[in-house]
Amino acid sequence: MQSVKLVEVGPRDGLQNEKQPLSAEIKLELIRRLAETGLSAIEAGAFVSPKWVPQMAGSAEVLAALDASGPIAYPVLVPNDKGLDAALAAGAREIAVFGAASESFSQKNINASIAESLQRFESVARRALDAGVRVRGYVSCVVGCPYEGRIAPQKVAEVSRALADLGCYEISLGDTIGVGTPASVREMLDAVLDAVPAKQLAGHFHDTYGMAVANIRAALDIGLRVFDASVAGLGGCPYARGASGNVATEDVAYLLAGEGYHTGIDLTKLVDVAWFIADALGKPPASKLAHALGRQ
Ligand code: HMG
Ligand code: MG
Repeated sequence: MQSVKLVEVGPRDGLQNEKQPLSAEIKLELIRRLAETGLSAIEAGAFVSPKWVPQMAGSAEVLAALDASGPIAYPVLVPNDKGLDAALAAGAREIAVFGAASESFSQKNINASIAESLQRFESVARRALDAGVRVRGYVSCVVGCPYEGRIAPQKVAEVSRALADLGCYEISLGDTIGVGTPASVREMLDAVLDAVPAKQLAGHFHDTYGMAVANIRAALDIGLRVFDASVAGLGGCPYARGASGNVATEDVAYLLAGEGYHTGIDLTKLVDVAWFIADALGKPPASKLAHALGRQ
């Protein structure tokens, strides 16, 4: 049986856009419950400016309370050296730098051009790797940008290659605003695969137009075996107006089980977590599966 790895991004991508701030205790409870479902990677927070993304302000407290050296990886987003200093002090063993294939999105999201951001990441990645910390890379707007529309697949390939050259063990390709369809995702992946091998790529699909599961199916056919997802379909990006949540982890896990892939995830436990965080936020889960199975 082939395996597919799911990277749970709910505690970061899922919560970063929530109007109602959650306490570090609730975030930790969410992460602890997710850790019991069989997930092997759970993005635990972001060491970004609290003025830009106030919801991620407690990330140091959250990360410090987790066992980042254990079998479950707890990556955190890091935009610059200042973020890296704070992440290392809180015990990070894996970080993620995040760039974009769109100039306008890069400016709005991290106040830097693509070239400037890669320059910043060079120092961040080198220092992290020297400290024995793994580095993942994100590319946002891989098929479309909220400011520029369609993004050229070649640009995605270029930025992906640049991140791989900085030492990122994996490049997560983000359809930040969820506009991709299987055809546009295939076109983008065809270009990226000329620059970075499938085993070094992950798919990160938001579900704005309900296409994320179809896009994952398309990416599986092309050879990707790692996907990011967010429990209860939480999420959105503060710098991408209209973007809905990530594809729900439980919906992806259901797809993968049906397609005969091993994920190691207990679906019943995962649906429990979806209801837990939905209750904490006072809104229903966005996944299909949480409603199909109901409260356990
Ligand atoms: P800037 O304003 O250009 O930074 O922001 P600066 O270097 O000029 O510093 C300004 C102030 O921010 C200073 O404080 C710094 O100390 C502070 P002041 O002197 O004014 O009091 N500062 C920091 N504070 C805490 N942590 C830091 C940090 N750096 C500077 N790391 C910056 C540049 C990158 C910091 C800012 O733009 C930022 O934090 N952006 C993050 C935006 C973000 O988190 N977006 C969401 C995540 S990306 C995403 O969701 C997409 C993804 O899911 C994939 C997909 O779906 O496509 C990954
Ligand atoms: Mg995202």
